[in-house]
Amino acid sequence: MHHSICSLLGLIVLCAAAQADGVNLTSLYGLGLSNSAEILYASDSDFEEETTHRWTLYHAPTYYGAIKPATEADIQHIVRTSVEHDIPFLATGGGHGVTRTLGRLQNGISIDLSNFQTVELDEENSFITVGGAATYQQTYEPMYRAGMMMAMGNAPCVGVVGAALGGAVGMWQGLYGVGIDSLVSVRLVTATGDLVVASQTENAELFWAIRGAGANFGIVTSATFQLQDAVNNGNVASTSFVFPAKHNASVWEAVRSFDTEIPDELAVTAIASFNHTAQEPTILVNVNYYGPALDAAQYLRPFEEAGPLAAIPVTLPWTTLQQLSLSVDAAACTPGQYVADYSIALKQTDVDAYVSAFNALTAFWEEHEAFAGVLVIDRYPNAVAKRVADGETAYPHREAIAHLLIENHYPDSSLDDSVNALMRETRARFQATSGFDELSVYVNFAQGDEGAEAWYSSRKLERLKELKRAWDPNELFSYSNPIPI
Ligand SMILES: Cc1cc2nc3c(=O)[nH]c(=O)nc-3n(C[C@H](O)[C@H](O)[C@H](O)COP(=O)(O)OP(=O)(O)OC[C@H]3O[C@@H](n4cnc5c(N)ncnc54)[C@H](O)[C@@H]3O)c2cc1C
Ligand SMILES: *[C@@H]1O[C@H](CO)[C@@H](O)[C@H](O)[C@H]1NC(C)=O
Ligand SMILES: *[C@@H]1O[C@H](CO)[C@@H](O)[C@H](O)[C@H]1NC(C)=O
Ligand SMILES: *[C@@H]1O[C@H](CO)[C@@H](O)[C@H](O)[C@H]1NC(C)=O
Repeated sequence: MHHSICSLLGLIVLCAAAQADGVNLTSLYGLGLSNSAEILYASDSDFEEETTHRWTLYHAPTYYGAIKPATEADIQHIVRTSVEHDIPFLATGGGHGVTRTLGRLQNGISIDLSNFQTVELDEENSFITVGGAATYQQTYEPMYRAGMMMAMGNAPCVGVVGAALGGAVGMWQGLYGVGIDSLVSVRLVTATGDLVVASQTENAELFWAIRGAGANFGIVTSATFQLQDAVNNGNVASTSFVFPAKHNASVWEAVRSFDTEIPDELAVTAIASFNHTAQEPTILVNVNYYGPALDAAQYLRPFEEAGPLAAIPVTLPWTTLQQLSLSVDAAACTPGQYVADYSIALKQTDVDAYVSAFNALTAFWEEHEAFAGVLVIDRYPNAVAKRVADGETAYPHREAIAHLLIENHYPDSSLDDSVNALMRETRARFQATSGFDELSVYVNFAQGDEGAEAWYSSRKLERLKELKRAWDPNELFSYSNPIPI
């Protein structure tokens, strides 16, 4: 009731400040829930163990309690009851969301989807169907056994659905396009509490929107993806290089050498970090080739010529690749850290921008003992992603050849101001030479201060606003990089 009055009078500020504080969740939600659903309060001593841990504590949402639905009907009931009583809520999948806008949810309830982690592989149709909170690592073995794969995010512990709602970029995209290009359909609970299917043939407009702006439209209970054959029997020729700081320009130059031509089978991930004991930065470059090691050799040459301290070649099944600490930041799956993410999409490699960013980071590392940020370049081919027309999905970054990510690890908010100042300057420097006219940031890597044009592009924003007004006019799903109404 309260909610409809709020909407009627347009008391947006008052309503947005609504909280769940002090509410008896059992008496409010209990009756309509299935027997296996659970209600937890943040004040319970076991709240931390019983609910999904967030990866970053930076501008994290806070909860008065959590409800763990066991059925789709539970989720429908929770959404409807929350709307009726004006209680703000947020779905929690893998808990890896990084944007600071999530912190706008204070004292709400978490709809913790941890009961929705099923993984079903349909070999006959080459489909995989995952629950709304299944993580990538839960899909590895079933896919590997079937000799199949799909485009995925890099970190094993990220939610498959959470990543796909933004597009899902990763080191397999040269072969398979971005993750959403394999998405066949989703089942989704909407703002009215209705359960709908979205696919090319059902609610096609909604399906367009959720492929790139998905966290804005509802709660996905399950998603079905089309699998493809794994290449090279699932084996990857993976070479890890270690470079000293003084050769940084040659490393960026080697990355740049692939701007004009890169095979679909290649994935280059570079990570610059600082060793506070040795007081020096190093750059690790992981080059994956999805084919025989012999064929990979020619693509390693630019890095061999850039003066590495070491080069370690291995051939691994793709399922174990994630354990190579050089290809995925080791901290990627440790929850409860304080990390501020900044990112930008790039259409070209500007060596000078990298040199100055690296030098500025090095000065910052040297100055701040507690700062352990890393600069990551996700340089993955985009030819296959570009075979899907830009207008086909809400995801706006098919022209990007790389996503630059700076993951700023530090103990607490005391360094926020200096980190934010350095990051904004760094992002602006890359933007000037990114090759894009407007700031362009992959929504799932975003800091949250960039704005909707940067996340969704001015090309797509009007259409997304229309769909947002149609599907979520009261902005219930507006905590993760929201589409403004
Ligand atoms: C260490 C690390 C590595 C990453 N690597 C990659 C990568 O390689 N590629 C890539 O594309 N992304 C990557 N990401 C970004 C990741 O895709 C996003 O952070 C994504 O939002 C995480 O989803 P989640 O379910 O784990 O997180 P959550 O924090 O649980 O959710 C994030 C947002 O998505 C919404 N959401 C989650 N599940 C659902 C659902 N079932 N239905 C509706 N809404 C839902 C939540 O409500 C929230 O708004 C990485 C993030 C981290 C922290
Ligand atoms: C909340 O409501 C339930 C059921 O209505 C009741 O059993 C319980 O005692 C209430 N809890 C508190 C703290 O009032
Ligand atoms: C990075 O490379 C440039 C150009 O060679 C060099 O001047 C600079 O000192 C290097 N940075 C670091 C931190 O070593
Ligand atoms: C950091 O440097 C120290 C001293 O040179 C070395 O012993 C240590 O192994 C380095 N740490 C890493 C993670 O490389």
